[in-house]
Amino acid sequence: LSLHDALPISTSTTMASFNGKQYLVGGNWKCNGTKESTAALVATLNGAGVIPAWVEVAVGVPSIHIASVIGTLRKDISVAAQDCSATGNGAYTGELSAAMLADFGVKWVILGHSERRVNQGETSALVATKTKQALDAGLSVMVCVGESLAEREAGRVNAVVLDDHMAALKGKFSDSEWARIAIAYEPVWAIGTGVTASPEQAQEVHASIRGWLSKNVSPAIAKATRIQYGGSMKGANAAGLLSKPDIDGGLIGGASLKAEFITGVCQNAPEPK
Ligand code: 13P
Repeated sequence: LSLHDALPISTSTTMASFNGKQYLVGGNWKCNGTKESTAALVATLNGAGVIPAWVEVAVGVPSIHIASVIGTLRKDISVAAQDCSATGNGAYTGELSAAMLADFGVKWVILGHSERRVNQGETSALVATKTKQALDAGLSVMVCVGESLAEREAGRVNAVVLDDHMAALKGKFSDSEWARIAIAYEPVWAIGTGVTASPEQAQEVHASIRGWLSKNVSPAIAKATRIQYGGSMKGANAAGLLSKPDIDGGLIGGASLKAEFITGVCQNAPEPK
């Protein structure tokens, strides 16, 4: 029996169920794409073949391309933003509010990516505030967590992932809000490096994240929350990762810019048994 058995479907507003599980595969295009290359990528994804019914797919699009991609991308892939403002509309020059994203038909937002934690100095508290803004606007959120290589080598994986990144989410959201949150475990040492966490390494951290959710939110939310793996995930390693009991999807950077995102990752997600 997996942790996903007997998932209470009523706790989730977004999730269909295939034996209690629907994978969530996110693409993260990061800061890439001209008008021309983005249109070409959309055409590639549109022509890349069938997405299994047990896989929900969203792609994280640079903000300036969101409006055009939403109008042209196949309808079985939803659009995610890669960040949103910690505030609502108003006198916040340069910001993009969650309400604006929702108004344009964006469904998901990726928050707390390690690149933003490092390059923009985003704290776990800020990520929690942004998550609340996004949920209030009706968006669903992929919250990214994960340790650096130095932190892993110092034996601090749980200290970073659970006691810092996850802890900031504690007590902030209702059950119906948690139903719109996915957690993306992205070990920083695996991002863009070609070094993937082994399925066993990833499973170990995913299981501890689920344990944290069970203890600090509720067993039902722990069971229903999708925990994605991110970090050099691609066609060649997707099946091995996705077959682990606590790996419920992926968050894919480089390989999301190619047809392989669908043909290699989504189509390799094993049918939940
Ligand atoms: P890569 O798949 O390029 O390693 O990036 C992972 C990532 O950061 C997804 O958010």
